[in-house]
Amino acid sequence: QDRQPFVIANWKINMMPDQVAPYLDTVLPALTGEKEVEVGIAAQDLYLSQMLQAAKGTPLAIVGENSHWEDDGAFTGETSPKALAALGVEYVLIGHFERRKFFNETDETVNLKTLAALRNGLKPIVDLDEDLSVYGHLVPEKVILKQLQAALDGVTAAAMAQVTIAYEPTWAIGSGSAASADQAQEAAALIRQSLANLYNRDLANTIRILYGGSVTPKNAPAFLCQQDIDGILVGKAALDPRQFLTLVDQAK
Ligand code: G3H
Repeated sequence: QDRQPFVIANWKINMMPDQVAPYLDTVLPALTGEKEVEVGIAAQDLYLSQMLQAAKGTPLAIVGENSHWEDDGAFTGETSPKALAALGVEYVLIGHFERRKFFNETDETVNLKTLAALRNGLKPIVDLDEDLSVYGHLVPEKVILKQLQAALDGVTAAAMAQVTIAYEPTWAIGSGSAASADQAQEAAALIRQSLANLYNRDLANTIRILYGGSVTPKNAPAFLCQQDIDGILVGKAALDPRQFLTLVDQAK
């Protein structure tokens, strides 16, 4: 199955305003004509306009880090998916582990946010974190599947073409101790099988599944060559633009 690899830098709330342009000045020239791999950067809202402007005419995809389940209204401090889409943002992370952990996002809000992103023409990258503390009585595989099923409730087969799944085990994020490539492949295969059960095998084979959690240029090749892993979602190691470009090259 031909799934275009996808490499995403997630800046989280790192990066000062004066670091954005130099980072993009390093990355963008290296991406011209990029076809073999799709490249994205997720950044806090306040940098998105600047990034969209800089990335115009280049293959870089701009990714929001979160968007709300309502299109607009009285939700101070939230990000409107409608406004993100109107701005020109293409992708949005939904249900990142840090959103679930620090901002009380639940399977239900992740589902509502996924539906809202799709309704507004954003492509959601739905994060599954395998957090055992939420479902203490379940084994890890069951937790991933429960999160997957809940997140996609009401998402039609047609809409699934816009969805990317990211598997980011809680214990591997920012910890410096990544999952093993085998472990990550096992989880990705399980997710793909579950997508086949929820929809159908052909559709499941077209959906990209990313691994995230302490990815570095050292361990990335092992993840990227796994059958069911179609890319990486990288935090810390992608804060250095040259290191990010190395990761992009490794995905080719
Ligand atoms: O979205 C990225 C993940 O949270 C991974 O972060 O590469 O710093 O572990 P990390």
